[in-house]
Amino acid sequence: MKIAAVSLFPDMFDALTEFGVSGRAIKSGTVDFAVFNPRDYTQDKHQSVDGRPYGGGPGMVMMVAPLQRAVADARRWMTGCRVKVIYLSPQGRALHQSAVQEFAHCEGIILIAGRYEGIDERFIALEVDEEWSIGDYVLSGGELAAMALADATIRLIPGSLGHNESAQQDSFSSGLLDCPHYTRPECVSGQRVPEVLLSGDHQRIRRWRLRQSLLRTQLRRPDLLAVLPFEEERQAELDDVRKELSDDD
Ligand code: ADE
Repeated sequence: MKIAAVSLFPDMFDALTEFGVSGRAIKSGTVDFAVFNPRDYTQDKHQSVDGRPYGGGPGMVMMVAPLQRAVADARRWMTGCRVKVIYLSPQGRALHQSAVQEFAHCEGIILIAGRYEGIDERFIALEVDEEWSIGDYVLSGGELAAMALADATIRLIPGSLGHNESAQQDSFSSGLLDCPHYTRPECVSGQRVPEVLLSGDHQRIRRWRLRQSLLRTQLRRPDLLAVLPFEEERQAELDDVRKELSDDD
């Protein structure tokens, strides 16, 4: 897969390319990554990438032409790939794991990271396929959002995660929050590892983890449970979790 970012701050992407799972995937060639800086595609002596907003108001708006030339170059860099152009902004649809799973099947992704008050709407109309938000808060630019999307996508690409890391075990891959995890020592400040995890009984451990996931999801993110079709074991366990919680009230 090829991923390009269009950004005025290429160095920010070192966080993606130099560290951890994404860094390894990029260094090993599982993913090709490049940044295209709109400033490199300006044609005036001031290298202008922004202008004052029509209609007045505070802040500046990113101009169409440098962005468009940067995207054209990113498209050339991924010639032969089917490309999706994604703009990160608070106005986008809320990003979730099932969208990320679809991105992981793309051949080429171009991520547009805006700065200032935003980008000229005509660039979005002409070049952008999808607009996504990483949450209901405003970042100072789209770079962190682009990296979040890229990181979440890269770790799903076969070969990115090592032997002992599995995306199947992730939070959300089952539509539920993850269960609690523990490692040595067995006792920390009087808090012991739950006995079941020391039992060696894999069936009991699996049931306990499922129940913990359901319990956490019911307590913290009941919205996730509203949309799920559940198979029998899960539904029975969820009914039981709900009964237990209502008995506690
Ligand atoms: N750019 C600024 N804030 C953002 C957000 N919440 N999501 C995506 N892109 C952004």
